[in-house]
Amino acid sequence: MLILGINAFHGDSAVALVRDGQLVAAAEEERFRRIKHWAGFPSHALAYCLREAGIELKDVDHIAVNQDSRAHFFRKMFYVLTHRHSISLFASRSKVRKSRSALSEYLEESFPQSSLHAGIHHVEHHLCHMFSAYHVSPFSEAATLSIDGFGDFSSAAWGMGKGGEVTVHGRIYFPHSLGLFYQALTQYLGFPNYGDEYKVMGLAAFGAPTCLSQMRKVVRLHNRGFKLDLSYFRHHAEELPTQWTDGSPRFEDLFTPALEEVFGPRRSPSDPIEQRHRDIACSVQAMYEEAFFHILEPLQKETSTSALTLAGGCAANSVANGKVRRSTAFKRVYVQAAAGDAGGAIGAAFATWQKLGGHRHFVMDHAYWGPHFSTAQVGDLLDARRSEIGASSCTIDLIQDEENLCGRVARFIADGKVIGWLQGRMEWGPRALGNRSILADPRRSDIKALLNAKIKRRESFRPFAPSILDHAVGEWFEEDDAVPFMMQVFQIRADKRALIPAVAHVDGSGRLQTVSQQTNPRYYRLIERFYELTGVPMVLNTSFNENEPIVCNPEEALDCFLRTKMDVLVMEDYLIERRGVPTA
Ligand SMILES: [Fe+2]
Repeated sequence: MLILGINAFHGDSAVALVRDGQLVAAAEEERFRRIKHWAGFPSHALAYCLREAGIELKDVDHIAVNQDSRAHFFRKMFYVLTHRHSISLFASRSKVRKSRSALSEYLEESFPQSSLHAGIHHVEHHLCHMFSAYHVSPFSEAATLSIDGFGDFSSAAWGMGKGGEVTVHGRIYFPHSLGLFYQALTQYLGFPNYGDEYKVMGLAAFGAPTCLSQMRKVVRLHNRGFKLDLSYFRHHAEELPTQWTDGSPRFEDLFTPALEEVFGPRRSPSDPIEQRHRDIACSVQAMYEEAFFHILEPLQKETSTSALTLAGGCAANSVANGKVRRSTAFKRVYVQAAAGDAGGAIGAAFATWQKLGGHRHFVMDHAYWGPHFSTAQVGDLLDARRSEIGASSCTIDLIQDEENLCGRVARFIADGKVIGWLQGRMEWGPRALGNRSILADPRRSDIKALLNAKIKRRESFRPFAPSILDHAVGEWFEEDDAVPFMMQVFQIRADKRALIPAVAHVDGSGRLQTVSQQTNPRYYRLIERFYELTGVPMVLNTSFNENEPIVCNPEEALDCFLRTKMDVLVMEDYLIERRGVPTA
């Protein structure tokens, strides 16, 4: 049975293909369109998934979408009737729903040569998130929490995953939302783009939670959940123009002037960052964590399990995720690689597989579900652009012995060079995890400034992350768990921090990726060679891009390498070295 899961007309539109209960391919549309967080119909990702599986659209049995406009219908109607001003609000949202319901038209338009036989299934948004985490986790049973901005009239849902099925125990409904709270405060702090919340998370480590008592008035905790003080927010009262099609999602301000009366004037993106902003960021993160654990603690008690799976946009809050073991009785945490709305494509597909009688027999233990390119394809590209590469004073070597290749690259990293590394299948989800990565030496205190100057040009307060051999985690971090998708932040052991300054955040934490020999043998071998040279079992890993989406194919990687001052580019078995440029 072939099931296509689709996340469309949300941020990070994406497609996943499941064959007989096993994931075959998954990718986000932004990688093909080259526009970050692209929202709209994911025709390129869909074409890729079909190609990867060697099938056509007519072969697909079922299409599952992570949105069901009929969900919570009576609750929505009750809200509209008791809040007259919201009629126009929901009328405008129904326009977006209409474009979603025209899915078969989009499919016919994108694949005019192929007839569609598949049944279309709409699956409620948070159920998709919960399935996207629990159903592919290594746990036979687990508590599960979905938490985000909004989807299908709710912003959080929690319950239990067992025997492949998910049972919802409770929800938070519109207009209350922790995702919206975090997004509004992110805008207030001068980061206006969709997905900028992680900047606030990074900035928080530089501040103190001096505004937490005021934050507790903005988000009020009560028995099993929380409520927003709506006087600080606009989303429930006004029709705010949003952009959810054919480009990056865009939002108007979500907060009211009342927020500035409490926290002072908003920061504009061009303003310098002051200590006040750092403290507000820290207070936002602290408030988020209070509410997060306020939901998790009773969930653990009622489910009596030590395993937790998390999904939804807020599950990308790796700082909070990394504190779960210390703050609750949960001892094992699984956060799927695409925790946000892209992951809904997987959740919709597996929820449909389960509904149709399939049994659960797939664990997602790696993120490598995207396109791959052979050494021969890389060779053809390099042949075609040989003169341009030569003009940039670069040499090209073909090194088909992996041991030799990894040894040479490890030596480059230890010598302070910056490496572009493209191998195997592209990662699913927002993180580069060793297949579309830029690698550098974590021991160098100057590497952050160097990477920012050479390539990334990003805010100086944002940390870089380490990829660490899985067996070494307990020796270097205060927690020990598999974190294959960089979705948890742990404290680095105090005696180790000075050894790896490039990947230690200001508060001594590190957003690690654990690398296993089974799921990425070449990357594991590279880090092993670096370990042998230096005694440090990790490399600095940042995404292979400048400001665009992470590179997908060798041509984009080569362009990025030639545009920037990266020292070495490795694509499959080819090694391109920039000569004549002084190394750092
Ligand atoms: Fe969501």
